[in-house]
Formats: sequence, structure tokens, C-alpha cells
Amino acid sequence: MWVQVLPGALSNLAKVLNLRKVAFLCYDQRMNADLLITHASQLLTIPSHHNGPQRGDRLGDLGLSEDGALAIDGESIIAVGPTADLAQRFSATQTIDAGGHLVMPGFVDPHTHVVWAEDRANEFEQRIAGATYIQIMNAGGGIMSTVRQTRAASVDQLVEQTRARLDRMLMHGTTTAEAKTGYGLETQAELRMLETIQRLAAEHPIDLVPTFLGAHAIPVEYKSREDEYTDLVVDEMLPAVASLTPHCNHAVGASVTHHSSLFCDVFCEAGAFTLKQSRRILERAKELGFALKIHVDEFEPLHGTRLGVELGAISVDHVVTTPADEIELLGHSPTIAVSLPGTPFGLAQRDYTPAKAILAAGGALAIATDLNPGTTWCESMQMIIALACRYLRLTQAQALAAATINAAYAIGRGDSVGSIEIGKQADALIMDVNDYRAIGYRYGTNLVRTVIKRGRMVYSNAGGLA
Ligand code: NIG
Ligand code: FE
Repeated sequence: MWVQVLPGALSNLAKVLNLRKVAFLCYDQRMNADLLITHASQLLTIPSHHNGPQRGDRLGDLGLSEDGALAIDGESIIAVGPTADLAQRFSATQTIDAGGHLVMPGFVDPHTHVVWAEDRANEFEQRIAGATYIQIMNAGGGIMSTVRQTRAASVDQLVEQTRARLDRMLMHGTTTAEAKTGYGLETQAELRMLETIQRLAAEHPIDLVPTFLGAHAIPVEYKSREDEYTDLVVDEMLPAVASLTPHCNHAVGASVTHHSSLFCDVFCEAGAFTLKQSRRILERAKELGFALKIHVDEFEPLHGTRLGVELGAISVDHVVTTPADEIELLGHSPTIAVSLPGTPFGLAQRDYTPAKAILAAGGALAIATDLNPGTTWCESMQMIIALACRYLRLTQAQALAAATINAAYAIGRGDSVGSIEIGKQADALIMDVNDYRAIGYRYGTNLVRTVIKRGRMVYSNAGGLA
């Protein structure tokens, strides 16, 4: 009788105590895991360093092991180690044999403008014929054409068009992404973009981290009244957005915690926002509890990098024409440089982020797509790694760390994603290659075989052609 009752009683007790492992330990010395991924030809953990990004010449620490395995329970990683070890310690509901395949953390894309309506293929044609991005922008096109189309779209339409891009990002291995507003440029339209991000965050496997970018461009209706538009951002938009987001840290004057769930970004650039306007917006945002980001030095150096470092921005993004003294400053600060090599590539420009100088100064570097309809319709972090290797002169190992753990820290998510470490979210990729050096070397095709997000298989191409 005890033989029959005991297991049931124990398992009930375990349930009550929320210790479901106890039940399994009674029969089998091994712990149960929901999913075990074994026999990775190479397992990359890409660890954080001192609970932060990989900085300077330490960038490129892949935490590589051969014949590696990881155990996942629920949404989390519960063990990482040699296959022989984990196979002994765990019995799993499901096992994936990753023999012959590289296993690594999901990509984190820390700078995207993924929400917009329609496209700007016509402007790409004009650029091929010789028009510059700034010329098109000054003629009322550029960001403003997408603003017109985005204002005219309903939230349902925005959700539908953006979802298709998120699906492609996921298929290319992105499991967490930042998503900016900035194609509304009037309070209600900006709020509709945030609503779109919130809806997609709830329904899509990709974790979305929202950024308010009401200061993306001066809308045409404010031409020659740039300061008035800045007033609108400061006095109306920022408080409206802050009041919508209960997670925002409202402690006025609090130093940036880098854990706020909402970021505020500004396009500090000739033709967009001056240094002074950028400062006003970011200082007010900081008071309201936003964590800060800033687009700097994409075309002209306006000293936005210095401003970002001074205000404790979590990242400064683009960082192309940055003066040497500001690179030095950046190197000694916690602010992360987010390089967007798809953008000069998309614009067929010569100048890229001086990544080597940033690393030599001891800085933390991340890479992102900058996915947007104007300069860079690129949903693939693999493509960005290929560009970073060629134009930033990063090794594959450096580019991989910049696209995962450092990217996670650049959006305040380094404690939960970006690496394969115990306790973190189980976001992992099984790649169709057996050696990490293939990533970046090979480009233009998707090398992702399987995507695991929060412990669940959300994409697989393992079936081959139909
Ligand atoms: O980061 N620079 C500002 N924003 C984007 C471009 C957006 C657009 O052209 O629609 C960027 O490159
Ligand atoms: Fe951008």
C-alpha cells in the first residue's frame, strides 16, 4: 500500500511546496529539465564581465566549449556544461541533439526603428542616382515621408506591418530587440506607436524594449520653429509618455539606474536636433525617470557623445564622426557605444564607427541593425556582424559578443538575456554551422537552424525544402 501511496503523496507534497523536482528525485537521481540541448560542436556562453558588458580588449570572450550542453526548465537556463556531465545530472522531457551545430545566445538588437508604415523604395532609387540622405530630408522626404505614412496608419495596420518584420528578425536569430517611436512626431501619433509596440510585445516571441523618440526629426509644420517643437516634446510628450508607463522610475533627479523599462532617445544631428535642444529634452526625460539614449555623430560631430556621457546615457548610437577626445571620454564611462554599420553601408558611405579606437580607449561596444525604412531595411544581426567584421575590423568573436551580451547591456537587459548563464532567460540559437568563425565570414544567407525563446522552440528550418 505504501508503495502505491507514497509516490502520489510525495508528488502532491512537492506540488504544494512548489518543489516539483522532489517528485523526480524520488525515482531517479537525476533532476528533471524541460529541455536539454546536447552535443553542440561548439557551445558559446558569451559571458558578462563583472555583471557588465565585455569592455576594451576583453571584448570577444565567447566562453567556448566543445561538446557542450544546456538544460532549460520553464523559461530559464538551469545548467550549462559538458554533455557527459549534464546527461548524467538531468532527465529531460525533450532532448535536442545539436551534434554538428554551433549553439549560442539569441541575438539582441539594441537599436531599431522597427515600427513604421509602408516603405521608401523611391528614395533609394534617388540615392542611387546621386541624391544624399540629408538632401532628401531637407526636401521634405526622408523621415518625414515615413511620418506622413505612419500618421495615416491605424494601430492595427502598424501592428500587422511590424509583425512581419519581427517574424523575419526572429527567423534570423534576434530574440530581444529595442523598438523606437519617432515616426509620429505629434503626441497622439507617438502614443499610437507606443501602443503598437506594447501590443506586439504582448503577442510576439521577441521581447521588445520600448524607446520614446519624439525628437527624431523636426516635423515640417514646425519648420523654422524648432524650439517650439522642442517645447512640445518637453512639456507635452514626455509627461504624457511617462504617465503611461508605471514602471518608469519617477524619482525626480534620480541617477540613471539603467533598469527603467522605458528609454528616451534624441537624434542629435545637423538638420535634426541641436546639442542644446538635445540637452533640454534629455535632462527633462531624466527628471521624469527615463533612461537615456542618444543618436550622435552620424554625419556631423555636434558633441552629442560628450553630452550622452555627461548625462549618464546608457548608450550613444552611431558614433561615426566622433572626435578623438570624446572617444577617450566614452572609453572611461559606463555609456555603451552602439555601432550601426548597416547604416553607412545602406547609404554607401565610406565612414564607419572607429571601433578599434573605442576598444583601445577601454570602451564597451555593441552593434545593432538600426532597422528603418530610410537607410537600413535590414532585419538580420548576422548581416550586421558581417559588416562589423569588414568595416569595423572586429573579429568574429568580438562581433558576436557585441551582438549579444553587450547589446543586452545597451538596453538595460544584461541581467536577463544576452548570454547562456544559469538563471538567465533560455534564449538560444542552434546554428547551421559547426564553428563560430563561419558567422560574419559567410553572409547573405540565414545560418540559423533553430530559435529557442524563453525555453520554447519558436523557429526551426531543420525540415529542409518542402
Ligand atoms: O538612425 N538617424 C535617424 N534615424 C534613423 C533613420 C531613420 C529614417 O531615415 O527613417 C537612423 O539612421
Ligand atoms: Fe536610429
